[in-house]
Amino acid sequence: MKGIILAGGTGSRLYPLTQVASKQLQPVYDKPMVYYPLTVLIASGVRQFCLISTPQDLPRFRQLLGDGSQWGTSIEYREQQSPEGIAQAILIAESFVGKDPVTLILGDNIFFGGDAFPRAFGEFQSGATIFAYHVKDPERYGVVEFDSEGKAVSLEEKPAHPRSNYAVPGVYLYDNDVLGIVRAMQPSPRGELEITDVNKEYLRRGTLRVQRLSRGTAWLDAGTSSSLHEASAYVQTIEKRQGMKLGCPEEAALYRGFLSHDQFETLVNSMPQCEYRDYLADLSAEVKRVGIKSA
Ligand code: DAU
Repeated sequence: MKGIILAGGTGSRLYPLTQVASKQLQPVYDKPMVYYPLTVLIASGVRQFCLISTPQDLPRFRQLLGDGSQWGTSIEYREQQSPEGIAQAILIAESFVGKDPVTLILGDNIFFGGDAFPRAFGEFQSGATIFAYHVKDPERYGVVEFDSEGKAVSLEEKPAHPRSNYAVPGVYLYDNDVLGIVRAMQPSPRGELEITDVNKEYLRRGTLRVQRLSRGTAWLDAGTSSSLHEASAYVQTIEKRQGMKLGCPEEAALYRGFLSHDQFETLVNSMPQCEYRDYLADLSAEVKRVGIKSA
């Protein structure tokens, strides 16, 4: 499965922070925001990535993530000239996707906990898989309605009167039919190729799977100054308590077997002296001692 990370947009709600670096490059506690969705995909076994951002921000992503080989992955880059919709990312990455299934993740979606994603990626065969997460303010999101048997029956983008409290987070798994679906789509009244319209088409075809994320999964928003601050505080709290990092691509790559222990050690040794390196060095020593225990 190929992976698209969409990290464009104007980031206007985080102005003036976004004057110098895009939203997805802002720190969430101790690492850039894009590390978190990237780690979700690495932990789910995705190895080939295409990152899409604005022409002005793309060089900074390249500087941060390089060609991905340090994590045993590959990362290509593509520009989105203007924010004409989340689904447009699939068209921009068309040659990257080729004949494969693809996952699209939003660079500002932060998840922790549970094994729902690795499981869903492992089980994926065809059609589309999306997720549903119970929230207090569904009107801000794509909303999915379930019938009494738990089957998804409707999808709406930011409805004024939501039919459920289940929001659709920004992680989508599609078979290769998605290319044809997006090619045939028209922009919405707000001028965007809507990802919800893609999902609605899979629902119409009867090939949409909607998996509910349990309360054990945290899905955080970091789109405003205060939610960005809260996300940082959350990461700090968990990391301090557990002595384990969240959103750490090096660690996920090691656990997933994308890096051998030797490669991991070389990578750690190439880092400047800092708390991040200390953490990975401790992890390396522990893995040497007891092997890999968990992902
Ligand atoms: O976060 C999940 C939600 O994401 C879903 O529930 C909604 O169905 C989906 O439409 C989307 O809603 P948002 O209101 O969060 O979309 P927004 O326009 O803010 O874009 C989300 C991210 O994608 C944001 O970081 C910017 C980036 N983006 C967006 C568009 C429209 C791009 O890079 N390019 C784009 O053209």
